[in-house]
Amino acid sequence: MTLPRQDEDRAAGTAGRPVLRSAYQRSVAAYWDSEKDPVNIRLGDIDGLYHHHYGVGEYDPAVVAAPADSRDAAIIGELHRLETAQADLLLDHLGDIGPGDHLLDAGSGRGGTSFVAQARFDCQVDGVTISQAQVEFANAQARTRGVADRVRFHYRNMLDTGFGTGSRQGIWTNETTMYVDLYELYREFARLLSYGGRYVCVTGCSNDLTGGRSRAVSEIDARYNCNIHPRSEYFKALAAAGFVPINVIDLTAATIPYWELRAQSSVATGIEESFLTAYREGSFHYLLIAADSIGS
Ligand SMILES: C[S@@+](CC[C@H](N)C(=O)[O-])C[C@H]1O[C@@H](n2cnc3c(N)ncnc32)[C@H](O)[C@@H]1O
Repeated sequence: MTLPRQDEDRAAGTAGRPVLRSAYQRSVAAYWDSEKDPVNIRLGDIDGLYHHHYGVGEYDPAVVAAPADSRDAAIIGELHRLETAQADLLLDHLGDIGPGDHLLDAGSGRGGTSFVAQARFDCQVDGVTISQAQVEFANAQARTRGVADRVRFHYRNMLDTGFGTGSRQGIWTNETTMYVDLYELYREFARLLSYGGRYVCVTGCSNDLTGGRSRAVSEIDARYNCNIHPRSEYFKALAAAGFVPINVIDLTAATIPYWELRAQSSVATGIEESFLTAYREGSFHYLLIAADSIGS
């Protein structure tokens, strides 16, 4: 019997358990199911790479000085370039990935990073998200891009993906870890990765050194219905699951220009000043962590 894709995911992914396990997860799924922020849609419309993460690198000041009738499009193009640069940077840290390899994009959004990864490594990519609307959108993109046999999106929970033990050579989370318990998440990733498999995380995290969460960090949590973790939590949870970090990069300085540009754009959402304050006062970092799994 052939099951519709969603039922197939529920059956295979969670052994009869529902994808959404808590009121909190249901609220996160509802947020992403209805999300249509121009900053996510208009940028993606440029080339079909829909990112729901932030950017890194210096922007070209010429876009701000562009004539009034072309300025907005120039800024949007530049924001998109910086977001794609962030995805590229993440993938630079996945190590040697080849055509036979299987990757997992945990919390895959509308699929942007998955498509960049497939184009670069010519490998198989599975993305999971708890938003059914995102799954449908991203699978439609995969068909449009002619890669539906290599990039697949599933309605599954990254805490319980249902994929085979040792089935992944690489996993990443691109701004998704603030929605879950890190110990649970890394236990699942340790199960999924083959020995020596690489995990790469890009995330915002609060700074243990400046004490409890700052007002600006709380504003970000409230805006996105998430729970930003302190920096220390990442390393404790990774160690507990048998992950050994190989690279840790503080991207805070590299992401500030993106926020400065976004604050001047027509797609600003109002959260820009909270990010800029949090980064500048040092209560928040933008971090990349690459770690190898050696088993727990
Ligand atoms: C900020 S978006 C990032 C999307 C994508 N990684 C990107 O860079 O474009 C956060 C994503 O995490 C997903 N997410 C949150 N909690 C999840 C969970 N427990 N399991 C799977 N996905 C989850 C959301 O559905 C959403 O797709």
